[in-house]
Amino acid sequence: MAFPASLLTFLLPVLFSFPSALSTNSEGNALHALRTRLSDPTNVLQSWDPTLVNPCTWFHVTCDSNNHVVRLDLGNSNISGILGPELGELKHLQYLELYRNSIGGKIPEELGNLEKLISMDLYGNKFKGKIPNSFAKLKSLRFLRLSDNKLTGLIPRELTNLSNLKVFDVSGNDLCGTIPVDGPFGNFPMESFENNRLSGPELKGLVSYDFGC
Ligand SMILES: *[C@@H]1O[C@H](CO)[C@@H](O)[C@H](O)[C@H]1NC(C)=O
Ligand SMILES: *[C@@H]1O[C@H](CO)[C@@H](O)[C@H](O)[C@H]1NC(C)=O
Repeated sequence: MAFPASLLTFLLPVLFSFPSALSTNSEGNALHALRTRLSDPTNVLQSWDPTLVNPCTWFHVTCDSNNHVVRLDLGNSNISGILGPELGELKHLQYLELYRNSIGGKIPEELGNLEKLISMDLYGNKFKGKIPNSFAKLKSLRFLRLSDNKLTGLIPRELTNLSNLKVFDVSGNDLCGTIPVDGPFGNFPMESFENNRLSGPELKGLVSYDFGC
């Protein structure tokens, strides 16, 4: 039986539009993968329906005019669980607001792929492990607040390269070593570093940063 030409002319545009529809929704897929990792007792993520063509109508998600996700606003949302690598797929994200929840586990190093990020607020959670070195790639970052978690290890020296950084707060963690003084770190107040195991500002020419770790 011959394949009807009319059916083919109908199907071809559908087939060719499919990959772009998929790539549009990759951000929705990433957010939905995040949802599966989180416990959400007060249903703040209830509107996150993965069958919609994009996540732009979901509560706590903001898109730009090209339907790319630019904000995730889930501060004070009673959520717990962990983050995963898929968050790094939100390439257009500018604001990642997850403060004052009970999210734990490690901060995924893939967050360093969010090169448009202006603000990352993870303070007031249960994050542990190290501050990822990959954050040195966040060249647009102006606000980085990681205070009141359970982070350990050194403050990565690479972060001194973040020339746009205006606010940096790691107070109330379990960090060790010395406090960087180069680049924007010359302007941050000591309160940004208190309640850790940090041993004070680094001394110029001192070879070892990991004093007390
Ligand atoms: C978080 O939980 C508290 C207590 O159950 C509730 O009052 C509050 O509305 C919740 N917040 C959100 C954003 O659902
Ligand atoms: C900082 O940036 C400079 C120039 O882009 C680069 O050569 C250097 O390796 C970076 N340093 C760190 C610690 O990332």
